[in-house]
Amino acid sequence: MAAALNWVVRSGAIKRAVAITCVAGLGLVAEFAIPELTRAAWRVHLNWWCCSTLRTNLMSGSLPMGLTYFKRFQMQTPLKYFSAGFPILPTGYRVAPWNSELLEAHIECKYQSFCGEIDASVFPCLGQLEGCDRLMREISTREGFLPNATWLAKYVSQDGTVEPCGTIQSLRATGDHASIQNIGVVPRHRGLGIGSTLLLLALKGFQELGLRYANLEVTAENVDAVRLYQRYGFRTVRTVYKAVEVAYS
Ligand SMILES: CC(C)(COP(=O)(O)OP(=O)(O)OC[C@H]1O[C@@H](n2cnc3c(N)ncnc32)[C@H](O)[C@@H]1OP(=O)(O)O)[C@@H](O)C(=O)NCCC(=O)NCCS
Repeated sequence: MAAALNWVVRSGAIKRAVAITCVAGLGLVAEFAIPELTRAAWRVHLNWWCCSTLRTNLMSGSLPMGLTYFKRFQMQTPLKYFSAGFPILPTGYRVAPWNSELLEAHIECKYQSFCGEIDASVFPCLGQLEGCDRLMREISTREGFLPNATWLAKYVSQDGTVEPCGTIQSLRATGDHASIQNIGVVPRHRGLGIGSTLLLLALKGFQELGLRYANLEVTAENVDAVRLYQRYGFRTVRTVYKAVEVAYS
């Protein structure tokens, strides 16, 4: 018996048994932890959402549902001292104030601008033509709708074809606050000053109405939009989290 025990100790069998137990334990922990890790990875992935395969799966509803949270900045700028100069738009670009005949152009433009963007994950209606149709009709018939701060940008090509390429819509909020609803520029027309022009036109419209503050909300990851707003004096006044139902693997 003593000889057997001596052999067990000297042969390292105890160390091996301990090692095997540890590995098995870790395996069990991993077994339980992996689904959580997978979900966390999906969350991170959705936050950096650019994978069309995932998007297709989400849209088809073939995956189980769960909640994810998008960080959003509520931004504000005072209008009292606002006097930014307008960028000079490249040849062919024009802007038009709101007119009900431009409704379809705004809808199409909104859809082309938001489809596939981060905000289409936060607000799925923005990623669908019928969702943009509903939203645009709803905004333009709301009580506080501000036609003079709602603009369409269009590109007129040399052969005379007119292509709507940017949209901004605005509402009157409470008191002397205005609220920018959506601003979007169709991808192939970005980086030309159209977003800036539309934003400045809306701010000018608010000023003309005697409003004192402009508000908006933007998804924190939408860095292009955040930069645009900061450039024209918007600062974050509050950070909120929007819960969105998404599908997990
Ligand atoms: C955010 C958004 C509206 C910006 O529109 P845009 O037309 O590209 O905006 P601008 O052209 O005015 O500004 C974009 C950049 O081009 C630059 N730019 C402007 N005019 C330029 C010109 N004539 N030549 C070269 N660059 C120019 C700007 O300085 C800016 O640079 P920066 O991002 O490095 O600061 C657009 O990216 C978009 O539609 N995104 C998807 C929808 C969305 O998320 N909307 C916001 C919801 S809150």
